[in-house]
Amino acid sequence: MKPLSIKVKITCWYTGLIIFILAVIMAGIVFGTDKVLVQGVQRELQDEVYDVAEDINYTNGSIDVNDVDFFDDGVLISLYTKEQTLFAGQLPAGLPAAVPFQSEQVQTVKVDGSQWLVYDLYITAKGEEGIWVRGAVSLSPAYETRNQILFVCMVLFPFLVLLAGYGGWLITQNAFQPVTLIQRTAAEIESSGDLSRRIHLTGSQDEIYQLAQTFDHMLDQLEMSFKAEQQFTADASHELRTPVTVMMTHAEYALAQKDNWQEAAEAIQVILQQAEKMNSLISALLLLARADHRTDNLEFEMINLSEVAEMVVEEMEIAARKRNITICTDIEPDLMLMADQTSMMRLLLNLCQNAIRYGRDNGWVRLTLKREDGGIQGSVADNGIGIAPAEQEKIWKRFYQVDPARHKREDSGTGLGLPIVKWIVERHGGSIAIDSCLNGGTTVRFCLPVNRQSKL
Ligand SMILES: Nc1ncnc2c1ncn2[C@@H]1O[C@H](COP(=O)(O)OP(=O)(O)OP(=O)(O)O)[C@@H](O)[C@H]1O
Ligand SMILES: [Mg+2]
Repeated sequence: MKPLSIKVKITCWYTGLIIFILAVIMAGIVFGTDKVLVQGVQRELQDEVYDVAEDINYTNGSIDVNDVDFFDDGVLISLYTKEQTLFAGQLPAGLPAAVPFQSEQVQTVKVDGSQWLVYDLYITAKGEEGIWVRGAVSLSPAYETRNQILFVCMVLFPFLVLLAGYGGWLITQNAFQPVTLIQRTAAEIESSGDLSRRIHLTGSQDEIYQLAQTFDHMLDQLEMSFKAEQQFTADASHELRTPVTVMMTHAEYALAQKDNWQEAAEAIQVILQQAEKMNSLISALLLLARADHRTDNLEFEMINLSEVAEMVVEEMEIAARKRNITICTDIEPDLMLMADQTSMMRLLLNLCQNAIRYGRDNGWVRLTLKREDGGIQGSVADNGIGIAPAEQEKIWKRFYQVDPARHKREDSGTGLGLPIVKWIVERHGGSIAIDSCLNGGTTVRFCLPVNRQSKL
């Protein structure tokens, strides 16, 4: 059996509740009005009988009933002698004559299928014969009123139940519309794989609106990371294809040089260079993939950044010398900080490599490191080709390279150096910024907290 929807459940629940409440009200009317109306009629009867008793006068030894009203407010009055013989007033037709006289007692008598209340009062005047005053009133008008109320209820209540049910259904239908929309959007995304779809819920900013907003934001994030991953894969494949093509061409060429070992060796040399390039590209890709999945295995320990920097400078000397670039340093000794040594080395190497690669022949590169504001401030500056302001934001993106044609060199990179540098700095809880002027040189500044283990 198909399970009931929440809409149906809610509608059934409060329609049932309304029916229950109305049934209770109806029972109240049936039993309550009976009691209230009968009591009212009874009071009316008693008051009338007492009024009549006061209106009876004795003139010269005989009873004067001129002032007595024998029919008032539906109450019939009759007067009897002490011996219970009727001498004035009238009895309701069909009232059994033998209704016993009981002073100040309300009696219920059935007359032709309808109920009557009878009330007797025995009065005496000084030196006069006592007389009975009997009042009788029919309960039919009271029951008629009750029946009329019941009739109105019977007509009105089903209408109220229908109204409540329909109104409730409409309200729940309205309230659940956004949920249906969310579910439909999710189903469409699932079937079409189109991550660009959104709910775009409008209207009151209630909990469901918040849910739809969160859902849309989540889709934004998903779409972004999906696109980034696609872009990353496409860029990585593209970057890997170039060295592979070069290697294949040179391998074929080398194989063809059966008698010319010199030519073959040169081709193998090119293959080796490309293999090295591929190797560094693959390790950069691996590092970024681990960073994305937060599975990097950085080892944070107290390291001497000054020593690391000296090692980096030593390593970069060969590349700098090739272009006659002078590396000058201003490194405060024994700068200790909690960091992953390999990452720190990679950070400084990448920055110095860039400064040399994009520096001027016969130019300079300056590496500074000092303690400042409870952290370590560092900078790598050069007087090279610089970066135009419009490009400065983009260089942090993966695979982005500023017009590679402007620095055609054998050791052209892949555009992963700075994204890795940025990740390392942020992973160590620091920040990094670039200050550059086209053809006027570049300075990359970073700061690292001494004791912060990791931002993540
Ligand atoms: N010091 C600098 N001077 C001028 N341009 C720079 C400098 N550093 C980086 N750039 C520009 O920013 C781009 C991105 O640098 P990044 O280090 O990320 O990649 P890459 O150096 O091209 O390759 P990789 O570092 O992966 O070998 C470079 O292509 C270059 O155009
Ligand atoms: Mg680089």
